[in-house]
Amino acid sequence: MNYIGVDLGTSALKLLLVDEHGGKIKELSREYPIYFPHSGWSEQNPKDWLDAVISGLKEMLEDQDPATIGAISFAGQMHGLVILDDKDQVIRPAILWNDGRCEDECQRLNEGLGLDALIDNTGNIAFAGFTAPKLLWLREHERENYDRISKVMLPKDYLVYTLSGVHATDVSDASGMLLFDVKNRKWSETMLEIVGLKEEQMAKVYESYQSVGYVKKTISDMTGLSTSTKVVVGAGDNAAAAVGTGVVREGDMNLSLGTSGTLFIASDNYLRDSSGAMHSFCHANGKNHLMGCILSAASCNKWWMDKILETSDYGAEQARIADEHLADNKVFFLPYLMGERTPHNDTDARAAFLGMSMDTTREEMTLAVLEGVAFALRDCLELAKKDGASPTSSMISGGGVKSELWLKIVANVLHMKLTVPEISEGPSLGAAILAAVGNKEYRSVEEAAKKIVGVSRTIEPDPELEAKYDEKYKVYKAIYPALKDLYKSMK
Ligand code: XUL
Repeated sequence: MNYIGVDLGTSALKLLLVDEHGGKIKELSREYPIYFPHSGWSEQNPKDWLDAVISGLKEMLEDQDPATIGAISFAGQMHGLVILDDKDQVIRPAILWNDGRCEDECQRLNEGLGLDALIDNTGNIAFAGFTAPKLLWLREHERENYDRISKVMLPKDYLVYTLSGVHATDVSDASGMLLFDVKNRKWSETMLEIVGLKEEQMAKVYESYQSVGYVKKTISDMTGLSTSTKVVVGAGDNAAAAVGTGVVREGDMNLSLGTSGTLFIASDNYLRDSSGAMHSFCHANGKNHLMGCILSAASCNKWWMDKILETSDYGAEQARIADEHLADNKVFFLPYLMGERTPHNDTDARAAFLGMSMDTTREEMTLAVLEGVAFALRDCLELAKKDGASPTSSMISGGGVKSELWLKIVANVLHMKLTVPEISEGPSLGAAILAAVGNKEYRSVEEAAKKIVGVSRTIEPDPELEAKYDEKYKVYKAIYPALKDLYKSMK
C-alpha cells in the first residue's frame, strides 16, 4: 500500500506520497498568503488551505491508482484558532501560532490563575500563540464571532474534518491549546470553563496514529481519492517532524529550521518544566516530549534575503561567507521579528542588528542572521539542560537544512553532532508514517519510523569553533535583557 502525508505549513501545503517502506513516489506543494493585519498579528484564510489540499490531491492522484492509497494523514502548523458555526462554516480568518495580539489575556492567565495552577491543569503556561488566550481575546474583542462558535478546531483538524466529516483532533496538537490536560491526555474542565466553552464544542481527541474514518464521497469526487482510503488524524507539525526524523525514543532530539525553529526532545513520560518556558506536550507515538519554540527561524533568513537584499539566490549570498568568518563576526542579530516565545515569552520583542561599523559588510549581516537564529536555539537548549536533558546529537530538518553553512553554525553553537535525514520534509513524512500505522501496516510508530527513516549525512562540531561560539553566545545572551524595557516603550 502507499500513503499520503500532508503538511499544512505556514507558507505552503506540502503533499508527499510514499510506498509502505517510505520510498518517495511523488511530492508537490501549494503556496498561500499569510496576512499581517496589524504589527505582530498573523492570520490565514482556512479556505486557502482547503483549495490547496483539494487541488494538490487532484494533481497527486492524476497518475496514481486510488486503490493503492491505504491512508492519508496530516501534520499541521500548531495552535491556530479556527472557529466553525453550527453549519460548520468558518466564522473568521484563522489566528495563527505566531500571532502576538493576546499579551493581556496571557498576563491575566499567568498572573490571575498563576503559573503553577496552569501547569497543573495543562502542563504549560500561557503564550500568546496558544489557543486559549486567543479565545479570551475573541470573547473580549469580537463577541459576535465568539457567540457563534459551535466547534473550535486546529488548522490540520479542519482539513481532517473536511476529508472525513469527523470533528477530530490528536493529543499532540491539542496539547498546544492550553485547554488540554497533557498529563492525562484529555480536555481540561478547568480551562474550558475559563474560556467559557463546553466539551461538545471541542473535537474528539485521538492518538495521532488513529484512523477517524474514510474519505467522504464528495471529496473523492473532487480529488480522485478512493472512499476506501482511511483518514488518520495526524499530529502537530513538530511531533510529526519528530516521527519523520525517527525521534521517537527517550532522549532523542530533533531540531527544526522551518518558519519557526524548534528543539524537540522525546520522552517516555510526562515532564513538567518548572519555569513553563519549555512546552510539555504529548508526542505522536503515544508518549510525550519537551519543546522550545522560537517564532522566527528560516523566516529570518527569508526576510533578510527576499525583503532586504531582494534576492532569491540564497546560496550565492551565503557562498560569499568564508569559513574563517564564522564566530569572528562583530555583528549580532536578535531574531525576534514576531516577538519571541522560548525563552522570553515577550510579544513586544523585535529583531535587532547590533555592532555594525563603517566597514561592516553585507556578508557579515547575512552571517549574523544565521548565527542569531542558532543562538536563539541555544537558549532553548540551555533550558532543556535545566530540566535534566543532556543531548549531544540531534536530527535536523526543515527548509534551513539546505544551507550547509547554517548546519555548521548550528552544530558548533549547540555543541552537537547533527544528522540530516534522507527525506528532509520531516512533517509530511511523519504524517505518511502515521497514515501507515493507522492502516496497521506497522504495529507501532517506533517500528514504522525505524524501518522508514533513512540518514543522508552528519555534521560534526569543531572544538575550536565551539569555544569561539561560546564566547559569542555570552554576548548574545546579554543583549535581550538590555533591550527588554525599551521594547515596551517602542510599542
Ligand atoms: C510550535 C509552533 C510552531 C508551529 C509552526 O509550538 O508554534 O512550530 O507549529 O508551524
